[in-house]
Order: sequence, then structure tokens, then C-alpha cells
Amino acid sequence: MSTIRVAVLVGSLRADSLNRKVAEKLAAEAPEGVTLSIVEGLDQLPFYNEELDAGDAPAAAVAVRQAVADADRVLVVTPEYNGTMPAVLNNAIDWLSRPYGAGALSAKPFAVIGTTPTPYGGKWAHNDTARSANIAGAVVLEDVTVSQSALEVDVLNDAEVFGKLQAAVQALVDYSETAAA
Ligand code: FNR
Repeated sequence: MSTIRVAVLVGSLRADSLNRKVAEKLAAEAPEGVTLSIVEGLDQLPFYNEELDAGDAPAAAVAVRQAVADADRVLVVTPEYNGTMPAVLNNAIDWLSRPYGAGALSAKPFAVIGTTPTPYGGKWAHNDTARSANIAGAVVLEDVTVSQSALEVDVLNDAEVFGKLQAAVQALVDYSETAAA
């Protein structure tokens, strides 16, 4: 069986980000036959501007697009900022949505999870990410979304809580176009 490659977009740039730690632990404990790779360099992307994208795209955009294009699945792990996704993630989705109709997200099975230290766990950010990715052409698995509150919960070390995040990865990996049709 060939390896299923999952490109992971992390919506927080903090070195100490809990969402990055979740992504790293999911990668370290990936199921057999699955690799999760965090797409680095989202902070190097300029704000999307069609003029910058008219000829040769900036090197950072080429690299991020290639990392996603090479993957079989896309997983977002993100917190919420001001009731929506962080700007760095929104900007990455914009770059991945072009060329129109043929962006790197096009037809990619896509899921979004994440955690915030608030009661709703970033639900608005996750809903907005799903809507945006859908418009960008991804096949969004909305049932797979996990918005995990980190209030009074050790997200990384609570087996039940972390298990929900792992189950989301498994559902994304298990997605089959034929079964979904
Ligand atoms: C936040 N935070 C936040 N949390 C939330 O649940 N809803 C929100 O609307 C916001 N808004 C917000 C705005 C800004 C500018 C910041 C910096 C933070 C809190 C946020 O969820 C928290 O900082 C997370 O821990 C960030 O995740 P990482 O960096 O630990 O992955």
C-alpha cells in the first residue's frame, strides 16, 4: 500500500503554539502508512496580490503550493483570532486558491481541527476555514472538524481528548471519493 501524505497547515506562528504541538504530536503518532508534514513558511508569504502572482510567483508561494500539491490530503490545525481564522492561514488559503480553478487545494480532501483556551475551541475559525477552503476548491470533510476547548483540559496528554484529534486524522485519511459519491 502506498503512503498517504497529509500536508498540515498550522494557523499559529508562535514557537510555543499549542496548535503546532498538536500538529507535531499527530505527525509523530501518525497511523502506519500515513505521513503528516507541517508546511513551513506560511509567515514568508506576502499578502496575496494578483499582481505578484501574474508572472513568476514569489518563491515562498511556490514552495507552499508545491508542498500542498504533492500531498494527498490537507489538514489545518488552527486557533481562532477575533472570531475567525488567523490572517496567516487566510492568506495561505488565498495563495493556495490560485490559479483560479487549479489551485493546490483543488479537489484535495481537507479537514480542520484546532484548540483554543476558550469554551468553543475555535469553532468560528474552523467554520470559516471550512467555508473558505470549500470555495477554494477543496473537498471539505465538515463532519471531521474538531474544535477542542483547552480550558481545564490537557489537550496533548489527555488520551480521550487527543484521541478525538487522532480520529479526525484517521477519518481524513480514510476518506474515499468512491465511498462519498
Ligand atoms: C485570540 N484568541 C482567541 N481565542 C478564541 O477562542 N476566540 C477568539 O476570537 C480569539 N481571538 C484572539 C485574537 C488574537 C489576536 C489572539 C492573539 C488570540 C486566543 C487564542 O485562541 C489563543 O491565543 C491560542 O492559544 C492561540 O493558539 P496557539 O498559538 O497556542 O496555537
